[in-house]
Amino acid sequence: CGIVGYVGPKQAAPFLLEGLTKLEYRGYDSAGIAVFDGNKINVEKSVGRLSILQKKVENHMPVGTIGIGHTRWATHGRPSDVNSHPHTDCTGRFVVVHNGIIENYLHIKERLIAKGHVFTSETDTEVVAHLVEEYYTGDFEAAVKKVLAEIDGSYALVFMCQDHPDKLICTKQDNPLVIGLGEGENFIASDIPAIINRTRKTYILSDGEMAIVTKDSVWVMNRQGVPVTKKIFEVNWDAEAAEKGGYEHFMIKEIYEQPKAIRETMTGRLAKDDSRVVFDELKWTKEDVANIKKIVITACGTAFHAGIVGKYYLEQLARIPVEVDIASEFRYRSPLTDEQTLAIVISQSGETSDTLAALKEAKRLGARTLAITNVVGSSIAREADQVIYTWAGPEIAVASTKAYTTQLISVLMLALYLADLKGTLPPERIQELIKGLRALPGQAHELLEDVEPVKTFAQQYGFNEDVFFIGRSLDYAVALEGSLKLKEISYIHAEAYAAGELKHGTLALIIEGVPVIALATQHDVYEKMLSNIKEVKARDAVVIGIAMKGDEEIKKYVDHTIFIPATDKYLAPILAVIPLQLLAYYAAVTRGADVDKPRNLAKSVTVE
Ligand code: G6P
Repeated sequence: CGIVGYVGPKQAAPFLLEGLTKLEYRGYDSAGIAVFDGNKINVEKSVGRLSILQKKVENHMPVGTIGIGHTRWATHGRPSDVNSHPHTDCTGRFVVVHNGIIENYLHIKERLIAKGHVFTSETDTEVVAHLVEEYYTGDFEAAVKKVLAEIDGSYALVFMCQDHPDKLICTKQDNPLVIGLGEGENFIASDIPAIINRTRKTYILSDGEMAIVTKDSVWVMNRQGVPVTKKIFEVNWDAEAAEKGGYEHFMIKEIYEQPKAIRETMTGRLAKDDSRVVFDELKWTKEDVANIKKIVITACGTAFHAGIVGKYYLEQLARIPVEVDIASEFRYRSPLTDEQTLAIVISQSGETSDTLAALKEAKRLGARTLAITNVVGSSIAREADQVIYTWAGPEIAVASTKAYTTQLISVLMLALYLADLKGTLPPERIQELIKGLRALPGQAHELLEDVEPVKTFAQQYGFNEDVFFIGRSLDYAVALEGSLKLKEISYIHAEAYAAGELKHGTLALIIEGVPVIALATQHDVYEKMLSNIKEVKARDAVVIGIAMKGDEEIKKYVDHTIFIPATDKYLAPILAVIPLQLLAYYAAVTRGADVDKPRNLAKSVTVE
């Protein structure tokens, strides 16, 4: 979900709606705003996209200079008008927006119902508004404190009270919340893009902190009520970077941003003479690294696929055993993790609830923790012992692209960094790979210059119901990501298979005309891969090969070929995924799907 708040001299509603537009990627099944008009708080909300709410209020914009807003991704209670936020108490004097889950809400709800409270929604959030009403005796702040002492769970909350129309109170636990500091006005948002057009000065709230925000002041205190002096965090993002630019969708814009994102992620991290990777943020010694007996990588979705590539990198280059696990599995499987384990979590947003929980579990078990994330100051970044940031810039499209390629760059640089400290690779090999890394932005750019062949395949096969992706070794890891991309945005059923595994079952599904995307960039398994391609060709599949430039052999066995610039086998995944991203994108466009906001999915899943 996304949250916004405004207090100042201007009309609140225009900012609230504008801010919510920037946060729609956090959830978009319903939206609402609440504004105080000098007499009472008026709430406008509606199920569906923000545009529906915008239409609804177009001709009678709520008037007032203080207000809050919300864009929702349903957890408790299906998407509907009544379940949309903001939520109010029985009297309408207390209004609240919430991101997260109040775990003990049922218990509280029963108690309040027994006391005569009447609930209108199925949400966990509504109990918070009723609780403030219950505890309010004239002191807004004291009532909120009592509520916070009673609720369990994860939340970012903003409270508004009709009797105190000069202030908003906000707080957070395991969900992000920032305060934007303006001149004679202040902003609240769950995420920076919402306020970037208004101010670059922010306070990033930490768990348990509560802030009282008026137009001229921001008071922050901890759970005990002790004042906290916050440091101003200056946002240095380019406002343009959070906009769509000239592209039709955020996803295609972000695909095209990959050369820049890759270059920036390497900036300052490769020694000038190409001899080693320099991670100032880690500064590990040989002894530190000698103590790492095992690495576990946990993540969700696309970031999990980056973890699978990471396993190949870290095991083959740094010779450390690696387990990769889906965060929601790791946290419940009583993992064999201890002080000699390095736990790496990968997360674009740094807010994914399962990944955060897996990180906390690894920490609890004594592991050293390292986060690879794209969002500075995110919950995961703050929780981990150390952080490697992917400098991909804000990623808005739900389907991750530039975050994934920069995650691969980061984990490859980490493997080279460890290999150097452990002496598992000859210096010339490290140098060779670093030179290869330096060439990548240019090669990615080259790939993106000619997208016509991919576009044609997408238009040709975009209406198929099943597509298979096959590959061996690192190509298999890329196949997984290619298939996820296609599923997510075009809704075509896609499966990725380790090519050698086909004959153990999936081959039964290969019939005439079924498209098979065959990745063949790994020279050490190339011949084996050709045999697998022959297996599917023999069943009359239509095979699209992804191979390195200069590979003439493959053309004999496949129906179409997409070439990526020639590179090292370890760098091939970073280039090979790009045509697969484009294939998914153009297939989705061909089918008229909502590319940036696929049905049922959200960019940042901050609930379990
Ligand atoms: C959601 C998104 C995916 C993303 C996953 C993990 O499911 O739709 O695109 O890969 O979360 O997100 P994270 O921010 O942790 O990388």
